[in-house]
Amino acid sequence: MLIEIPQVLDATEVARVRGIIDAAAWVDGNATSGSQSALAKDNAQLPEDGVAAAEAGRIVLDALGRSALFIAAALPLKVFPPLFNRYAGGQAFGTHVDTAVRVRRGTDFRIRADLSATIFLEDPNAYDGGDLIVEGAFGEQSVKLPAGHMILYPASSLHRVAPVTRGTRLASFFWVQSMVRDDGARRILFDLDRGVQAVASLQGQGDPATVQLTGVYHNLLRRWADV
Ligand code: NI
Repeated sequence: MLIEIPQVLDATEVARVRGIIDAAAWVDGNATSGSQSALAKDNAQLPEDGVAAAEAGRIVLDALGRSALFIAAALPLKVFPPLFNRYAGGQAFGTHVDTAVRVRRGTDFRIRADLSATIFLEDPNAYDGGDLIVEGAFGEQSVKLPAGHMILYPASSLHRVAPVTRGTRLASFFWVQSMVRDDGARRILFDLDRGVQAVASLQGQGDPATVQLTGVYHNLLRRWADV
């Protein structure tokens, strides 16, 4: 399932992130790739262990922690420190699937990538191409969002970034290990959560049906969550 999370970063945060990354030194994106995706990948990236990625990444992580929609959709257990990439001059990333287990270089931090995330960091009118195209059960979905908006998609999906034929595409990308590994189970919980919120807003938090449905949510999460 693809889930759009609007305005994870507000305009001020986008500007702060851009201030950091626009001034930083970029390297070939293949510095972080596995050998299969290196064949498909043509972009630039901030060094994973650099100061700029760490500073800008902190802004992203703080924003994620405040996003109720992100937490409900991803049920995050661990988030990989955000990375940043840049495409221009026809650069693209051909069809690939993301690595299942991500290790943070030089540390013992590792996660199983259940969800892949992209936060767009440039005005979509400022560049042509650069759509994120994700293949799923209902065919291909093409995603190009305003700066500060995020797309979450299953890390198991085949996906690609279309060539950027004008301007520059900037984004933050990272992976999430979810408490609920199975995409379908996570989807049910997300739908139930939204349904319960809607009922609660009509009936009030203390309404017996709301209490019962909230119990069902937590009992399913108890059944399915690994923490
Ligand atoms: Ni990818």
